[in-house]
Amino acid sequence: MKILITGATGLVGRHLTEHLRLRHPDAELYPMNRQELDITDRQRVEEVFKTLRPDFAVNCAAYTKVDQAEIERDKCYAVNVEGTRHLASAAARTGSTLVHLSTDYIFDGKKRSPYVETDPANPLNYYGLTKWESEQVTRELLDRRIIIRPAWIYGKYRDNFVTRVLQWARGKDVIYASNDQTGSPTRADELAEFIAFMIFKHPQAYGTYHFSGEGEATRYDMAVEIIRTAGLNVRVEAVPSSFFKPLAKRPPYSVLSKEKIKRLWQYPVRHWRESLREFVKEIVSL
Ligand SMILES: NC(=O)c1ccc[n+]([C@@H]2O[C@H](COP(=O)([O-])OP(=O)(O)OC[C@H]3O[C@@H](n4cnc5c(N)ncnc54)[C@H](OP(=O)(O)O)[C@@H]3O)[C@@H](O)[C@H]2O)c1
Repeated sequence: MKILITGATGLVGRHLTEHLRLRHPDAELYPMNRQELDITDRQRVEEVFKTLRPDFAVNCAAYTKVDQAEIERDKCYAVNVEGTRHLASAAARTGSTLVHLSTDYIFDGKKRSPYVETDPANPLNYYGLTKWESEQVTRELLDRRIIIRPAWIYGKYRDNFVTRVLQWARGKDVIYASNDQTGSPTRADELAEFIAFMIFKHPQAYGTYHFSGEGEATRYDMAVEIIRTAGLNVRVEAVPSSFFKPLAKRPPYSVLSKEKIKRLWQYPVRHWRESLREFVKEIVSL
């Protein structure tokens, strides 16, 4: 099994590479960072696919700065839409399966019950719009595609909400977290495990799948849990998200339903709180 991983030094890319190395040592892995494979370079993408002819390519490369994307629209489009187009068309030529990552930010948050895979997309920000287009491009060009939508990812690599809360809390009496956006936190190593599950157990289950922790949370709920688990004497104050003056709008509600993967494979989805507690204990004890 030959697996190409793009964006291999990103949060998900690193967790996935680590997971596959440890749990699937027989797989032939080709983790590539932006320097090794810039997905906006069509020729280079074609060349890599032609040379490697991977069974699977997992696209962990993306422009992920949600606020900055409002300003750097061209850059965001080039990576998220054009880059994905290059991967999908190269995969179609070599008969490879593309596992592509999308996001809960394709939804507008008007629902008040968990979003299912077939709910209509209506992104509120430019990043979300490009991710939705990246899904469409993949569907147009390629039958062998597995699109996974995670949300609010955290892990031990790269800056993310959990590591930021722990940094903010250093030497402070109070920190602020928003309580007007409700979503589904996703632990990156659990996402990596789900991607591996699809590749090794259901390699032909082409389609779109939601994956995140079970339950729902606001950033405030997460911050309270992080501070409590880390044993810090810091008060968390709930504020509206406008307090942080974000450039991009975000959906007020983007909880993802995991009913599809539970129904199809009885996939064991852990509650976000249990996963987060365990994660914080691990990194605090490092
Ligand atoms: N993080 C979240 O909360 C979240 C939530 C929902 C969905 N997602 C999706 O999950 C996927 C993985 O995100 P992540 O959190 O791992 O993001 P990340 O940590 O920002 O990683 C993205 C990676 O893509 C690389 N990259 C950027 N432009 C590239 C290009 N032109 N060619 C090749 N690589 C390029 C980056 O390289 P550099 O290191 O050089 O910048 C980085 O390593 C993305 O599709 C994202 O949209 C993320």
